[in-house]
Order: sequence, then C-alpha cells, then structure tokens
Amino acid sequence: METQTPNAATSRHGLWSSRLVFILVAAGAAIGLGNIWKFPFMAGANGGAAFILVYLACIAFIGVPVLMAEVMLGRRGRLNPVASLKQLALDADASVHWRLLGYLGALTLLLIFSFYSVISGWTFAYIKFGWSGAFNDASPDEVATLFTDFLANPKMLLLWHTAFIAMSLYTVLFGVQRGLERVIRFVMPLMLILLGLLVIYAVIAGDWMAGMRFLFTPDFSQVTYKTVIAAMGQALFTLAVGASAMMVYGAYLPKNVPMGSTLLTIAGLDTAIALMAGLAIFPIVFAYALSPAEGPGLVFVTLPIAFGQMPWGQFFAGIFFLLLLFAAWTSALSFAEPLTMLLIERFKISRKKAAMIVGFIAWALGIGTLLSFNVWADYKLFGHWDFFTAIDGLASNILLPIGALLFAVFAGWVMKRDDSHDELALSRQWQYRLWRFLIRYVAPISILIIFASPLIL
Ligand code: PFF
Repeated sequence: METQTPNAATSRHGLWSSRLVFILVAAGAAIGLGNIWKFPFMAGANGGAAFILVYLACIAFIGVPVLMAEVMLGRRGRLNPVASLKQLALDADASVHWRLLGYLGALTLLLIFSFYSVISGWTFAYIKFGWSGAFNDASPDEVATLFTDFLANPKMLLLWHTAFIAMSLYTVLFGVQRGLERVIRFVMPLMLILLGLLVIYAVIAGDWMAGMRFLFTPDFSQVTYKTVIAAMGQALFTLAVGASAMMVYGAYLPKNVPMGSTLLTIAGLDTAIALMAGLAIFPIVFAYALSPAEGPGLVFVTLPIAFGQMPWGQFFAGIFFLLLLFAAWTSALSFAEPLTMLLIERFKISRKKAAMIVGFIAWALGIGTLLSFNVWADYKLFGHWDFFTAIDGLASNILLPIGALLFAVFAGWVMKRDDSHDELALSRQWQYRLWRFLIRYVAPISILIIFASPLIL
C-alpha cells in the first residue's frame, strides 16, 4: 500500500497503489481454505449437488451484491468499519448505532481467525509429509491413519497453530504488502494450474462419473434446512462477505477504480476454484470408496491418495500444500488487519500492541478448536456440536448472514440513493438498478427466508 497525496476523502491509512493491488488483496482474502478445504467437505457432508445449487444461488443473489455494498461503504467511509458506519449513518440521518455492525464484524472475524489458523497449521505438516514421501504409494487406509495420528497429537497441532498466528501477525506488523502482492501474484495462477492437474488426474484415475453425479445431479428430496443454511454460510464465507473485512479493503481503494467488474471477476474466480477443488476430490472419493461426508479431514485424506499414485506426486504434494498455506495466509490478513486497525483507532494503542492482543485472543480461542479434534472430541455442545463445529457454525451460518443482512439493509435502505449511486459508479444505469433491486429486496429477503427454513423444510 502506498500513501498518496490525500484528496477529498482519502483513508488515513493510504491507498492501494493500483487497481491491480486491490484485485490481488481482495482475491487473496476471498480465495483460501474456504475454497479448497471447506467447500468440498461442506458439499460432501450436505449431499453434494443440491447444496452446490443453493450455494451458487447465494453467491449470485446475496454474496455478490453484498460484497459490492461492503466495498462501497468502506470506500465512502474511509475509516475502520465502526467509525465508517457511524459517519455514514450520520450522513444518512440514521442512528449511530449502526456502528455496532462494525463490532459484529470484528467478533465474526475473530472467531473465524481462531479456527482458520488451526486448519492452516495442518497444511504446514502436510507440506512436510508430502515432500518427505509419506504419501508415496500409500493405501487409503495408510493415508487415513496418517491423518488420524496427526490429529491425535495436540502438541503438534499447537505448534503449527502458533506458527500460523505468528506468520499472520508478521504481515500485519511489518506491513509487507509488496511481498504479499508478489505472493498472491504467483499463488493464484500456480494454484489454478495444480488444481487443473488434479482434475485431469481425477478424470483419468478417479470415478469421474460418480463424482460428476454427486456434484451436479441434485436430489432435492434430501434438502433440509441444514443444507440451505450451510450453503448460505459457505457462500458468504468463501467471498469474505458479512464480516466487514471487505469494507476495510474498500477503505484503501482509490476513488476512480471501477469496482463492479473487479468484484465480479473475483467472485467468478473464487467460485471456479472451489468447483475445481470439488472436481478434483470427489472422483477420488468414489474411486476409493471413501465417505464424501468425511468432514473437515476430507481434503487431507483424499488428495494425498491421489498424490501418492500420480507421477511426480511427491513434488506436487508439497507444492500443493505450500500454495494452500500461502492462500490461507493472504486470507488471514483480512482477519488480522481489520481487527488490529480497530484496536489501534479505538484504544489509541500501538500497532504492535494491537496485533499482539488480536493474535493472542485468536490463538487462545483456537486451542478450543484444536482440542476438539482429540482430547475434547467427545464433548458436544447441546449434544450436537464439538467446539470447532460450534464456532464455525456460529460465525459462518449465523453471524455472517446477520452481518450480510444488515449491510444489505444499510446500503439499500439507509444510505441515500444518490450516495450509493455515486460511490458504486457502475458504468451503466441498468447495472445500478439491478444492484439496488438485489440489495434492497432479493438479498435480505433470501437471507430471512433461509433463516426461517427450519420452519419450512
Ligand atoms: N474467504 C476466505 C476463504 O474462503 O478461505 C475466508 C474468509 C476471509 C472469511 C475473510 C471471512 C472473511 F471476512
């Protein structure tokens, strides 16, 4: 990020040096574990195609319009989300309590950061497993045992979780934006290439037809309210929408950058990567008679089987998990930076202190997730949810949709029409009308209907 000469409404934090940088960091926030780890396991656990259909609809009708709203609000406010929302509410003669939406976002980011770091830690270990040849010619049972044994060792998980938190704080503390830009620039294309290779491998060696059927032939009789709620949560999670992270990135966005096409491209890329991960994984799942409903371990037990069999697999395995780690790292910036920024501005403390506090809370909370895979595996909240599932469910399926709903109401109903029209600066009038229709009616009503689905389905 470079500080430019401030103009009428410039963020205190400087601006992205170009449109490309914004594209990179916003795509970096969107693309991460959500695409490659969470999407396949959620789709697998929720029956496949019907989940995916609802997920795609949520991306189009809720995710994208709210993403645009968040970036637009961030750019107009130019401060941290709490202060921006307060200012924008004052501008619109509305209650300053809208600032609470900023705090809601912060809480959501903190919860997500805590478990995200634990899973990102797994990728460290898997880079090592991959390069040391642990997957070579391993049978599905051996790969599964490797994973189970790994999870059974909380000390190891703690080490990697701590390493990931440290890595995230490093970016926030030393402002290595230039380095980060470079990382994102090579991670994205390489990730696409590697996923492409994995899909080709799945076509050749997996049960392609069964995989395709599972992913694209919906069986609506299986759809329950859990499916639709999970699909909505996943759509928001993957686009990084509803937690004010994108608002923060919008605050650094220069005024003259057209955001509509940029954000559509990011959403398209994000969706494509998730679908490719599904195409790479499910044919393998069916070829080896594994369970699609394996849960959070799905990626870690299917792809290593493929790597263990394919030519150059040892090399690709290490690279793949390294890329996944980098993708997670660039998403982690979108948790750690907004939280740090909020503490700095709210309590007037140094960046170092703020980052340390954020890191410590996320680290401590993450220990609950980490233990839920071993020592606490049998403790179930309300008889249903282990710690990880509870925190993820709360953040992704409840807080993100509430955040998205409130952002939609604020951008569509509270903010003055002229202001949102001006700030979005879409190139065609119909585009603005479409966005406004989606943000005022379609997105909020869909979220409410999905929340009400336990009463309907
Ligand atoms: N979109 C990220 C992923 O798919 O991994 C996760 C994420 C980032 C969620 C930022 C929420 C957020 F605000």
